[in-house]
Parts: sequence; structure tokens; C-alpha cells
Amino acid sequence: MGDEPMVIADAQGFRVTDAAGKEYLDGISGEWVVNLGYRNPEVAEAAIAQIMRSDFIAPMYNAEPRALLAEKVVEMAPGMSKLLFGLSGSDAVEGAMHLAMRSTGKDEFVCLFQAYHGRTFATLALSYTYPSMYEGAKKGLERYTTRQIRVPNYNCYRCPFERTPDSCDLFCARFVERMIVEGSEGGVAGVIVEAYQANGGMVPSPEGYLQEIREICTRQGAAMIVDEVQTAWGRCGEFFAVQHYGVEPDIIVLGKAFGGGFPMSGVLANEQFSQLAAWEYGFTEIGHPVAAWRSSRSSSPPRSRCSCSAACCSSSRAADSACWSTTTASTVTTASRSRGRTTCSPPPRRSSH
Ligand SMILES: Cc1ncc(COP(=O)(O)O)c(C=O)c1O
Repeated sequence: MGDEPMVIADAQGFRVTDAAGKEYLDGISGEWVVNLGYRNPEVAEAAIAQIMRSDFIAPMYNAEPRALLAEKVVEMAPGMSKLLFGLSGSDAVEGAMHLAMRSTGKDEFVCLFQAYHGRTFATLALSYTYPSMYEGAKKGLERYTTRQIRVPNYNCYRCPFERTPDSCDLFCARFVERMIVEGSEGGVAGVIVEAYQANGGMVPSPEGYLQEIREICTRQGAAMIVDEVQTAWGRCGEFFAVQHYGVEPDIIVLGKAFGGGFPMSGVLANEQFSQLAAWEYGFTEIGHPVAAWRSSRSSSPPRSRCSCSAACCSSSRAADSACWSTTTASTVTTASRSRGRTTCSPPPRRSSH
């Protein structure tokens, strides 16, 4: 922490000001976190309103902010049915791994050269943005780190296989299947990729790559996990970067801009890969109501409305209406794609201020 000598004293919109009063353009949006800019008035107002209503709701209870957010995100995500809340990108990647392991009964993961998935014990093992990061990173941690199979990454400009896109026929993607079949010891639970290799150089996956990985995962019974910690929440134009490729992964990992500066992450999973007992994943402050309410105010509205015919449901913005999910699912899986579970209820209690 604090690798840069600059001390940030103030931030507004897309600019930050240092302690000496010098202003800078923040070209990386606070490390891809504040996609709507710093102190966005609508988002800040939502946070303040939620603090005045309730600044914390224990995860053992259902809460409108997280249920509403989960419902919106699940509706927007391609093919997803459940959302697991986490605190950081790293623990969300672990949540994704956990889901993949539970559903497949296997425990190995395929990851790419130049990937970055976090710094917990399990995710460190899948991260390798440059060789020095790998060297010694697992020293003394071997018994806790993930069994991983590293494969050369996609990069048409500097192809690790020294091939060219005109004739390679997506060799890098096809090689993944070979490694699952020939390089695995105990069975691959999941293949984890980024749609754009972010820390690995902001490299977009080539056309057809994710489709090929999708087909391989289906054939080999492994979860296709797309780490969208950096790329989701509109960062790449579409809400999720995978939407540019028309691919439906089994699991999508969210972080950074999902919490917009508050520690909140998420794991979206389809029906097949959402088997996890409530006690198997979760932290005291998951789905923090302030972060969740802010985040639902900074996301697009769901495309469809709930099935009841009440007037509030014609509103184009779920957050403006009195609709929220009444799901009684565990605190970790707070939304279901089943529209039948969304009902209209009295408006949330407003602050007396
Ligand atoms: C693609 C990707 N995955 C996971 C992470 C880890 O997120 P966090 O730092 O919130 O644990 C990052 C962080 O930079 C990331 O870029």
C-alpha cells in the first residue's frame, strides 16, 4: 500500500487533488473502482440515505438493499441465477472456486499466464502477472494454495506460442483442453479467465477464444469462470465484458466498481454451479447495506419487472419503486431468477431527517 509517493487529499469527478493542492486527471478511476467518478451526487445521496435508515444489517437477516441489488444484477447478467456477496475481488474468486469445486467434486483449476486473480492463498496460486510475482510467492504456503495448471495466455501481439492469428486457429484456447485431459492429476473443477487480461497488460481476448473455452468447459465438465473484477460494471462498454463476446460463462466474479469504493464483491453463478451451503461462504459484513444501496443506484434497471400488476411495477427504476425481492434464501444467495418471487411491499422506511 502507498507505492506511489503522492498523497491524495481530495477527489471529485475524474480528478484527484494532492496534499499540495495540485490537481490530476485520474485516468484509472481509482484503480477501476469509481466508474461513475468520485463523489457522484446521486450515488453519495444514496449512501447517506441508507446510513440514515440503517448503517448495518447483519448478514443473517434479509435486507432490502442487498436483495434489490442481487435481483438487478442477476437480471442483467447473461444466464445467471444466483449472487453470492463477498468483500473483495480475491475472496469472490475463492467463492467462485468453492462453487466450482462443490458442483464438480474436483479441485484443480486451469489459469493463464499473466493472469491476476488476487492475493489470498488460493488466488495467489492462480496469479502470475510477471515472473517475479510467481517466484517465491508460494514459499511456505504450498499446503494452502490451489492445485493449478497454468497455460499460456492469449496475446495475438506477443503470442506465447509464437503463432499468428491468421493461421493459429485459436491454438491457445484449444491447448486448454489438452491440458485438462493430459495435464491434470485429480480433475479440473474450473477454468478461470479474464475477458480482457487486465493486470496482464489490458489485452482483450481474441474473437472466438471465450466461445472455445465455453465449449471445452462444457465437454470436460468444468466450470467456466470469468473474472470480471476489473471489466464489469460498464467498464468496457457493456455491463459485463463477456457480453461483447456473446458468451454465457457458468460463473462471473465481480469486485472493484461493484462496490464503487466500498468493500463489496460478488459471485454470479448459473443454476448448475450454485450449490453451496450458507455456512460455507460468507463474512460478517457481506452485502453491506450502504454499499448495496449505492451500487443498485449506480446500475441500470432490470429489463423486466415483477409479475404482479401493482402500479409501482410500471416504474422504469426498481430503486424508485417499492418492489424488492422477498426471497428467504440464505444470506449468501439472495436472488433468484424466478420472477415469481418478487413481490410488491410497502416502501422502505425512510429516515425521519
Ligand atoms: C482481475 C482481478 N481479479 C481479482 C482481483 C483482486 O481484487 P481485490 O484486490 O479486491 O482482492 C483484481 C485486483 O486488481 C483483479 O484485477
